[in-house]
Amino acid sequence: MVGYRVKDEELAPQGRLQTEWASRHMPVLSQIKERFTKEKPLKGLTLGACLHVTKETAVLVEVLLAGGAKVALCGSNPLSTQDDVAAALVEKGAHVFAWRGQTTEEYYWCINKTVDYGPVITLDDGADLVGTLHSKRTEALLNVKGGTEETTTGVLRLRAMERDGALKYAIIAVNDAYTKYLFDNRYGTGQSTIDGILRATNILLAGKNFVVCGYGWCARGIAMRAQGMGANVIVTEVDPLRALEAAMNGLRVMPLGEAAAKGDIFVTATGNINVIRKEHMQKMKNGAILANSGHFNVEINIRDLEELAVSRRILRPNLEEYKLKDGRKLYLLAEGRLVNLASAEGHPSEVMDMSFANQSLCAEYIAQNEKMPPRVYDVPKIIDKNVAKLKLTAMGIRIDELTHEQKKYLATWETGTI
Ligand SMILES: NC(=O)c1ccc[n+]([C@@H]2O[C@H](COP(=O)([O-])OP(=O)(O)OC[C@H]3O[C@@H](n4cnc5c(N)ncnc54)[C@H](O)[C@@H]3O)[C@@H](O)[C@H]2O)c1
Repeated sequence: MVGYRVKDEELAPQGRLQTEWASRHMPVLSQIKERFTKEKPLKGLTLGACLHVTKETAVLVEVLLAGGAKVALCGSNPLSTQDDVAAALVEKGAHVFAWRGQTTEEYYWCINKTVDYGPVITLDDGADLVGTLHSKRTEALLNVKGGTEETTTGVLRLRAMERDGALKYAIIAVNDAYTKYLFDNRYGTGQSTIDGILRATNILLAGKNFVVCGYGWCARGIAMRAQGMGANVIVTEVDPLRALEAAMNGLRVMPLGEAAAKGDIFVTATGNINVIRKEHMQKMKNGAILANSGHFNVEINIRDLEELAVSRRILRPNLEEYKLKDGRKLYLLAEGRLVNLASAEGHPSEVMDMSFANQSLCAEYIAQNEKMPPRVYDVPKIIDKNVAKLKLTAMGIRIDELTHEQKKYLATWETGTI
């Protein structure tokens, strides 16, 4: 049967150290691991995971293995795998099919290898594993009891499948847990996107015009951190509420057609397609930098950029120069793929601690409950609150409790103005 395929097994010692470092900052997962080791809630179950293969994911996989699961893992982006971590996971006994710098063909080959294991529970990030199971590998659907989805884009795709009656098994939308999107999407993407841009370019942010496309959870974090480093942040939006929020947070809001001529750096985080396209590129300043932090590499229209360009060259890792016909140069980071994962290391461990705590507890929930009808489900409130509680405890923070009188007051309607 299939075993694994990674770039280089010899990288395992470095990957082990990376994972050890991540796990130090993931106290919630450590607590879950301790319990899983004793209780083995996933005993005998095969889990198929399509996740960014980072040191934080390695900590999650160790928790799942400790819970008794067999794990088959592939990357959820062709450019996001940390090769040393992938090698270390093979050593731990996971069946890993992932390496950095895959072609699209290789990427789907790895997903298919994961499906070959016949997963009972799927853990997805972007719904490519679910998509493959529902299109090319429908014979493997019979095995599947349920799954989880990590990101906004994946949840959107799954809800569309649910609406069309195409979804064949239950999926818990981990992304929509408070302890996921409020922290991972905002603080995690915020910090790591800036990190990715800086590692690729080492430019000074202070004083630059920094255009953020979107003002959702990820983009809010990116805008907040860019502003904190002295950039003049401009937000573009299509949702009036979010645009208003950006304006009231002191940011300039305008259409991208206007912002295009002003920006020094552009970052997309919308989950939408062709947000930055030819008409915008034509107006951009010489030297403008383009990056994406949304899940798929469709937010910047790269074909448009290629059509406008007369030549291209790679100047540094993850930094490609496009020389346009009129002599202007535009710089694309990380091929337009998620810049925080391709050019940096993805989210810091502290936020992935909560996202992956939700992942492991939801996998346990699916294992322990009857097969649910095929729908997209919220993370059970009790799990979400429990993750927040465990995190607070790990951070040494205590909070107040409602008194008996307060509980009663909040549950009645008789008492008004007194
Ligand atoms: N880089 C990462 O590590 C990471 C982490 C989490 C999520 N994501 C991805 O980032 C993307 C955004 O996630 P989110 O949680 O912020 O979503 P969200 O739904 O909270 O926000 C998206 C925002 O983009 C806006 N938008 C849509 N089309 C637009 C357009 N053409 N121009 C301007 N704004 C537009 C929407 O109105 C919305 O406010 C998704 O693809 C998600 O999967 C990436």
